[in-house]
Amino acid sequence: MKDIKLHDKTFELFISAKEIEQIVKNVADEINNNGIEKPLFIAILNGSFLFAADVMRKITIPNSEISFIKLASYQGTKSTGSVNELIGLSQDLENRNIIILEDIIDTGNTLEKIIELFQNKKIASFKTATLLYKPKAYKKDIPIDFIGKSIPNDFVVGYGLDYDEIGRNLPHIYKLKN
Ligand code: IMP
Ligand code: MG
Repeated sequence: MKDIKLHDKTFELFISAKEIEQIVKNVADEINNNGIEKPLFIAILNGSFLFAADVMRKITIPNSEISFIKLASYQGTKSTGSVNELIGLSQDLENRNIIILEDIIDTGNTLEKIIELFQNKKIASFKTATLLYKPKAYKKDIPIDFIGKSIPNDFVVGYGLDYDEIGRNLPHIYKLKN
């Protein structure tokens, strides 16, 4: 498989579309077998749009719902990298069993912020599912309930993941070539 170039960087094939399909199926099976009733899935945009679409097609729990949110960080000429607002959540979260859908969990800063934003909403339960997880980068104690694949600290793109906003459309996942 040929390397690909995005902006100034070269990437090599890391996880094929076929393997992604199997990973997504495993995550869906685990969620289906967890006994969560009437879950409200919340996909974190933009990165998780493909993962959310594919995993939801394999969810068999009755009365499952999905919603999408975006985390807004203040963006001036410089991005602080801090996330501090939820855009797009219209549902009442009271007494809901929430399952977060993330594309990748790296340091855990985003996940921590999401949890803060869900505090005081009187939710019934909270679980997190992520396609990819970087255990060596993760700095938090928050348990991650459903993990598709643990990966080394490489920068990856494709299947929703971007490098400066491009590469999200790639069906395979690629890693930065050193
Ligand atoms: P965290 O807050 O450090 O856990 O990082 C989470 C966010 O950083 C993800 O939702 C991605 O948007 C981005 N990110 C982390 N690692 C990668 C990567 O390898 N490729 C593309 N985006 C990444
Ligand atoms: Mg993301």
